[in-house]
Amino acid sequence: MSAVQRLEAACEPAAVATDVIWTDEAGSSRDLRHAFGRFATGVTVITINSPDGPYGMTVNSFSSVSLDPALILWSVDKGSARCPYFREASHFAVNILSAGQAAVALSFARDPLAFDTTAWNESDIGLPVLSGCTATLECRREAVHPGGDHLIIVGQVLKACVAEREPLLFHKGDFGAMA
Ligand SMILES: Cc1cc2nc3c(=O)[nH]c(=O)nc-3n(C[C@H](O)[C@H](O)[C@H](O)COP(=O)(O)O)c2cc1C
Repeated sequence: MSAVQRLEAACEPAAVATDVIWTDEAGSSRDLRHAFGRFATGVTVITINSPDGPYGMTVNSFSSVSLDPALILWSVDKGSARCPYFREASHFAVNILSAGQAAVALSFARDPLAFDTTAWNESDIGLPVLSGCTATLECRREAVHPGGDHLIIVGQVLKACVAEREPLLFHKGDFGAMA
């Protein structure tokens, strides 16, 4: 049996029903969030130097976009009180959290000023950068695009750092780590 056949057998497609939980005519945002949450992601904290000092937000909408030029994106909820801070920031850091940093993710989901809950330092270009991550990307804001109830923020990567740590994962509303 090939590797693909073994994977298919393990998934038992015939035994699993697929339910329609949302259409563009019927369904709540909660249901749609439920479907979106089936996409397993990593977890980041986006950090900036705001007029109020170091400022952050837990974000899983991060995605790489382009290698040349080096571009990434993430999206911020327009309804969030934090949105104006990130929209206006000329530079930001994407702190890609490691497996042991679920508490850091929760802290920055609750409080943009949660820098007293974890170790951090100031980078060469003055961005607050969290310690203990699996990677950090320092970026210059390249563009801000409308995206429904979110703004899509595109950044040009100026510097990338990595450390050999396992990533923190997010799936179906819960944190996890690689098996
Ligand atoms: C795992 C996780 C991922 C999140 N991803 C995003 C995101 O991509 N964009 C966003 O605007 N908020 C995201 N949030 C929510 C923010 O971290 C934060 O909780 C929210 O902005 C708080 O609302 P407030 O800014 O109105 O106080 C995420 C939260 C968690 C826990």
